[in-house]
Order: sequence, then C-alpha cells, then structure tokens
Amino acid sequence: KTIALLTGGTTGEWVVSVKSAATIAHHLDADKFDVYKIMLTQQGWFYEPADSVKIEVDRNDFSIMVKGRRVMFDGVYIAIHGSPGEDGKLQGYFDMLGIPYTTCDALTSAISMNKGYTKAIVQNIDQLNVAKSVQLFNHTPYSLDTIKSTLKLPLFIKPNNGGSSIGMSKVTHPFDLKDAIDKAFKEDSQVLIEEFISGREFSVGVVKLDGKITVLPITEVETGKEFFDFEAKYTPGMAKETTPANLSTVTRDRVAEIVKHVYLVLNCRGVVRIDFILSGAEEDFYFIEVNTIPGQTATSFIPQQVAAMGMKLNDFYTKLVRETIG
Ligand code: DAL
Ligand code: MG
Repeated sequence: KTIALLTGGTTGEWVVSVKSAATIAHHLDADKFDVYKIMLTQQGWFYEPADSVKIEVDRNDFSIMVKGRRVMFDGVYIAIHGSPGEDGKLQGYFDMLGIPYTTCDALTSAISMNKGYTKAIVQNIDQLNVAKSVQLFNHTPYSLDTIKSTLKLPLFIKPNNGGSSIGMSKVTHPFDLKDAIDKAFKEDSQVLIEEFISGREFSVGVVKLDGKITVLPITEVETGKEFFDFEAKYTPGMAKETTPANLSTVTRDRVAEIVKHVYLVLNCRGVVRIDFILSGAEEDFYFIEVNTIPGQTATSFIPQQVAAMGMKLNDFYTKLVRETIG
C-alpha cells in the first residue's frame, strides 16, 4: 500500500506532530507500506525526499510527481495535532476525494476538537461526570462577576479548540481571571472555563483493532507542577507516568466501560485518547476531553500503553492502518 503520512499543521502543536510522525514512520514496516511523509505548513503542502528538492502536492487529487511518475495514495495516515488534521478539515477534504484515512470522520473530529461541545454530548453517559463550566465566545460580552458567582475557584481556563495545554491557565486568585481569559482568547475564539476537580489524573487509549474496540492499559499522570502543561508533557522525566495505573480491577473495568461508551457515542474510529480524573473516595469519573489524534511522541501515552499491553508498535500501527484504510 502507498500511504501518505501527514504531519506539520498550522497551530502551535505542529512541533508535536513532527515528533509523532517520526514515531509512526519508524514503525510502519517498509515491506508492507510505501510511506511518503508529507508536511503541511502555512506555505504549502510538500513531500521532502532526502535526495531532491521539495515537491508540492497537487491538491486537486492529492498526488505528487516523483521522478516523472505520478504517485497516488491508497490511504492517508493523519498525524497532525490541532488544525487542520484533528478538527475535521482534512477529513472532509479526503472524503471528497474518496481517499481513506486513519482517524475519526469529519463530524466527530470537528466536535471532539471542541472541548465544550464534546462535554455536552458525553455528559449523559452513565457514571460519567463533567466539571461545571462556562463557555465564552469572543464576539459576545461576558461578565467576570457572573463567572465568579457561577463557578468555584480554582478554575481551569482553556482555549476550547486547543491542545497540549497551549494557552491554558489554572487560576486560584480571582484577580488573575481576566489575564487568563485574554491569554486563552489569543489562541481561539472560544474559551472554556472549568471548575478544578481534585483527584488522580489519568489518560487511556481506546482503539478499534481487528474489528474490536480495545481499551489500552490506563496511565496515571502525576506532575509536580500546577498542572500537566506543555513543558511537563514533552520533557522526558518531568512528570511521573505509571502504566498500567495502580487501580483496582473493579475501577479499571468501570473506566473501560465508560470510555468504550464515549468511543461509541462519539462514533470514533482509529485510536483516540480520553483524559479523565477519578475524584473522591468513590473514584467518581470526571471526563476532561477526548483527543482524536493523540500524541505518538517518545514521551506520549499511547506508545507506552501499547508497550504495556505487550504489543509491538509495528503491529499496532499496521493493524490500525488495516482497520481504517483497508
Ligand atoms: N494534543 C496532544 C498531542 C495529545 O493529546 O497527545
Ligand atoms: Mg488534548
């Protein structure tokens, strides 16, 4: 199969995308796949062969001309976090061209990229809780006093369509709220303000392989910082990550049921990662978000979880491509 591996992107997460694509490229076996890594940037879409100059992609049919031969693709592995890879734009484009890809479809991608809209859909799932929140839109005035009287501090302020904690703040003092909102609005036209939920923080991959929805081993994250920010996410050793997390079988099974339900309700495809908190003595499940293109960098959770399951990354990516592209 001839596969295009898409990386780059137009948000601050593009650096993460490049690292994720490197892991994937390294583990897609050359005897099974002919892989062309294609970089999407603000300046254009390019294939960069080692031995020649950049080749621009023909966007009419997503093909490239290599040494006088036109290369068409059987499928696309989308490894772009944030726009335009995780928010449905590329998915819509490839649907129009009839080229299969590895991720959720355009609608699911678009909804899941928006943390507020996703919460509205999943909050009815049995045993799933969401933090109380307020959503702001940059074209609508908001009142700081209303936010302060509606929500209890501390608060998390997030660009609603963001990733990797870029533009995000934790606010413990009321006078910091305005600056945190302004910072998030620099990244996005929508801002989500959520109450802080105290508890243990986890992340778990859910993937359909060989026709079956599989929940990967759960990872617990412990960060010495205020929250799991960009630096803690991508600096090896900066956060303590335990896979599989130390949880009772009962809790693990309950979490697996809930996250499978999220996967089904959102109509997911491929591998997604759900971040959540278990709070209080009853270990109540609080949904944070779903990442439809979860990181695959050396410090990312999915590769750790696949290894903890006893599966080789080569087998994982091969099965994933077979399941989604055919
Ligand atoms: N948004 C980052 C890449 C993640 O969810 O892993
Ligand atoms: Mg995320």
